[in-house]
Amino acid sequence: MADIVILGVFVADAAYRAGRLPRMGETILGSGFALGPGGKGSNQAVACGRAGARVAMLARIGRDTFGDMAEETWRAAGVAFAGDRVDEPTGSAMIFVDEASGDNAIVIVPGAAAGIGPADVEARRDLIGGAKVFVTQLEQPVGAATAGLRIAREAGVVTLLNPAPAMPLPDEVLAMCDYVTPNETEAEALTGIAVADEDGARRAADALLAKGVAEAVILTLGARGALFHARGVSEVVPARPAGPVVETTGAGDAFNAGFATALAEGRAPFDAVRFGNALAGLSITRPGAAASMPTRAEIDAHLAGRA
Ligand code: RIB
Ligand code: NA
Repeated sequence: MADIVILGVFVADAAYRAGRLPRMGETILGSGFALGPGGKGSNQAVACGRAGARVAMLARIGRDTFGDMAEETWRAAGVAFAGDRVDEPTGSAMIFVDEASGDNAIVIVPGAAAGIGPADVEARRDLIGGAKVFVTQLEQPVGAATAGLRIAREAGVVTLLNPAPAMPLPDEVLAMCDYVTPNETEAEALTGIAVADEDGARRAADALLAKGVAEAVILTLGARGALFHARGVSEVVPARPAGPVVETTGAGDAFNAGFATALAEGRAPFDAVRFGNALAGLSITRPGAAASMPTRAEIDAHLAGRA
């Protein structure tokens, strides 16, 4: 049985480093390329596995080379695959990485993952109900995420929604979440409140609590860290970079995975945010998405100030 069940997407990331984005109709020379495992849910599962959690991944992938990459990635990270392989292409993502800042811009095509529906999730009711924490995002259809959150809720499993990519959601979905972890753009899409500064972040987080998020909103603030916002507590937990930024792709996934792993270990939510920041701070110092996720030994060393 898994302590953490993650419903989400695997795609192969094709990451290009260049000085700037090309304009429409323009070709520019880049300086680096890597093809590797990505997709928010899968990145989160890999990070949980490396952090030492017992984790299962509920995903839909194809019977193709990228699908093989997915299974190999999960095997290496100790992630149990609890999904299906189908005769449709596994998804992929085009990732632009800015040479100077390490920041990224992404186009994702979920492929086979676009076909995962409520029935696929329902079929794993026992797996979800036996977990401590259920995690999902919004790269696969919202109907599947909603089914997973509902099943977890009914079984008393802690629910964590990473509402990425940015889109509006019905309040009834937010009301099935114990924790939501939007970034600034996602918080704005969910609430209509502009998150330009800490004050805006607090107002957006309040609006999400008012929409029914049960425990806390953790609004990630990039290089500044994360706002932990619950009823009666609102505090920015500073980021914990482990070195210079190489590539930020997957930093949000690292954070969510660390947060979920710490919750599954019984830590208090505020401590879990610190743990999540440690994973994110390590992941940004390395290229790639899943490939940049740290091991438990690296996390512990970083938190102890030895790395
Ligand atoms: O969060 C980073 C991920 O977003 C990348 O791996 C890419 O695949 C997109 O899903
Ligand atoms: Na990275």
